[in-house]
Amino acid sequence: MSAFHPTRLAVALVASLAFGLLPTTNAQAQDDVFAFMPDGGRTLMQGLIDGGLTPEIQAEIAGQTLSAEGWATYLEGKRADSPAVSELDEYQTQTLASYLSYNMPLLEGSELPWDGRDMALARCQSCHIITVVVTQERTREAWLGTMHKPSHIEVPLTEPEREALADYLVLNAGIPIDDIPPALRAGGASY
Ligand code: HEC
Repeated sequence: MSAFHPTRLAVALVASLAFGLLPTTNAQAQDDVFAFMPDGGRTLMQGLIDGGLTPEIQAEIAGQTLSAEGWATYLEGKRADSPAVSELDEYQTQTLASYLSYNMPLLEGSELPWDGRDMALARCQSCHIITVVVTQERTREAWLGTMHKPSHIEVPLTEPEREALADYLVLNAGIPIDDIPPALRAGGASY
């Protein structure tokens, strides 16, 4: 892979968005029931691009590696230049910063990778309802502890994906039970 070319990266990012990133229509159909779950970084990034983020800033984002703290600082610095960025609240900014720290730079032609919300929906519902997960308020270490228990070690997520999911949950879980649709409350834990 040759050196990143900012303009081509921006085009790749825009093109991948234009062609649609949601992995399945099934995920789209589920969106209503799971609307209470805050957006992950993939959706937030897509929202920025749809919201008019300039190609220059898109290229800058697609082309650099930063820590989550570095990305948060970067995004704060773009608030004044970009209305889309200025609309992110603090949790969204942190969620996007975390996502970017795992997923940038973005290789030319690649789609925006899945985010913590996508992972939770795809991997954390087969043995118990998602409510068991998203109502918990925990530290990163505690989330990683749960994900490394014998009951969870075979969940098909790589180590970096577990960390990305943990970071999403630290910022976005702890959702009050009253905000969870009744259909997802019935019976509580099913394990
Ligand atoms: C293969 C089945 C399975 C899948 C998939 C699964 N869980 Fe669980 N989960 C369990 C079982 C069994 C328990 C109860 C026993 C235990 O806690 O180990 C549990 C309990 C929990 C609990 C409450 C108890 C605790 O340890 O904190 C949380 C939180 C949790 N799971 C989170 C998750 C997350 C996050 C995912 C997705 C990454 C997930 N689960 C996917 C089987 C599963």
